[in-house]
Amino acid sequence: MPPLRAIVFDAYGTLFDVHSVIALCEQLWPGKGAALSQLWRSKQLEYTWQRSLMRRYEDFARVTEAALRYACAALGLPVDEERRRSLMGAYLKLAIFPEVRDVLAALRESKLKLAILSNGSPAMLRPLVANAGLGSQIRTIISVDARKIYKPAPAVYRLAVERLGAPKTAIGFVSSNCWDACGAKSFGFRTFWINRTGAPVDELGAMPDHVIGSLGELPALIRRPLS
Ligand code: 2OP
Repeated sequence: MPPLRAIVFDAYGTLFDVHSVIALCEQLWPGKGAALSQLWRSKQLEYTWQRSLMRRYEDFARVTEAALRYACAALGLPVDEERRRSLMGAYLKLAIFPEVRDVLAALRESKLKLAILSNGSPAMLRPLVANAGLGSQIRTIISVDARKIYKPAPAVYRLAVERLGAPKTAIGFVSSNCWDACGAKSFGFRTFWINRTGAPVDELGAMPDHVIGSLGELPALIRRPLS
């Protein structure tokens, strides 16, 4: 096994907390914030898989907005143009998980190239990373939009190989979305699943190489020779 040369992070749910929109949801519809955020996120992901199978790619902003419309309708929450715009705006300012900044700094000290590979469109990812102040730590931002299909299609993971110029066995892929870590493993990356909730592993025929409870465990694990 060659040593790792690059670490590629999933964005939503891994570095950025998608459920940080709960505060705004709750402000708009008191008592419904958590339910709206959960349904919004799960529909957003479902639509990416369904559209990929249907060969009907639409960029992630449009998918995210469609999922928001569905979730509001399903929960009986009236959403006008102003509310829609503010919720979509919140998606560009998601909070990062508390350990993210230190973990990125530690990995950069280990001379690893850091990148994001995400379903997000470039127009969503650039402001997201900039608003969180991570632009100087992660300079390579790769969007599935270049291939017009969503994770876990192998063509998407291949984008990281092409952009980083490193063999897949020298790339570590980090995601808190288990199905994404499984997809990356199936492609051939060394994979790290951040299992923050103690969930069982997805049964997709490709197990992540490493399962850790928090991103904070990553630097020590990568510094140790990985078997
Ligand atoms: C991402 O690609 C899967 O939403 C996740 O950032």
